[in-house]
Amino acid sequence: METVREIALRSGETAKIIKASPDIIDRLIELEDRSINPATFMRITEEELADSIENDTVFVATLADNPIAFSVLVHNRDSERSLAQRLGHNHRDVLTFDGVIVSKEARGNGLQRIFLLLAEELALSLGASYVGATVSRLNEYSRRNFAASGFTELCEIPIYGSSRILAEKRVK
Ligand SMILES: CC(C)(COP(=O)(O)OP(=O)(O)OC[C@H]1O[C@@H](n2cnc3c(N)ncnc32)[C@H](O)[C@@H]1OP(=O)(O)O)[C@@H](O)C(=O)NCCC(=O)NCCS
Repeated sequence: METVREIALRSGETAKIIKASPDIIDRLIELEDRSINPATFMRITEEELADSIENDTVFVATLADNPIAFSVLVHNRDSERSLAQRLGHNHRDVLTFDGVIVSKEARGNGLQRIFLLLAEELALSLGASYVGATVSRLNEYSRRNFAASGFTELCEIPIYGSSRILAEKRVK
């Protein structure tokens, strides 16, 4: 599988970022099960993963072929998973950063910020002008990473059965 980027971890090991293919879905769901706090993170479902592997991009960070983190990006297409309408833009202008999960052992390597950078590069390559995302008010780690990556928190909206902050970054 093609390596998109190599990342030096604090441990001295090197992680590889690849694009997910359908055969990895079970392992990503398993990673999600042991990594998320349901109070601050709305689960990425198996159906959403399958949809995005087929129609969008799912980046996976692997260490010795084991997934340690992943990020789901919904392309600038007409999808109910796109945040374009919420942001008041045309769907062709928005790449949606649908979610990121880093396993507990891999945290502290700045992987969310690397995925945000990859999202920005992808948005530009697809001709989108914005990257959009939502984040729980309680998720201080994620909010800090969005802010450090140049995202603006716009407002709080009811979404995914709770209330979340809507954020965007203009990339061009
Ligand atoms: C949010 C998340 C992706 C950040 O992971 P990350 O990119 O590895 O985080 P960072 O590299 O910015 O970590 C910075 C510091 O915060 C710590 N940290 C990060 N997330 C943490 C968490 N959920 N709980 C406790 N500490 C955490 C790191 O260990 C590191 O501390 P250190 O420098 O003292 O070692 C990760 O916490 C996660 O996967 N959470 C569950 C899913 C989620 O909430 N996703 C975001 C949805 S918008």
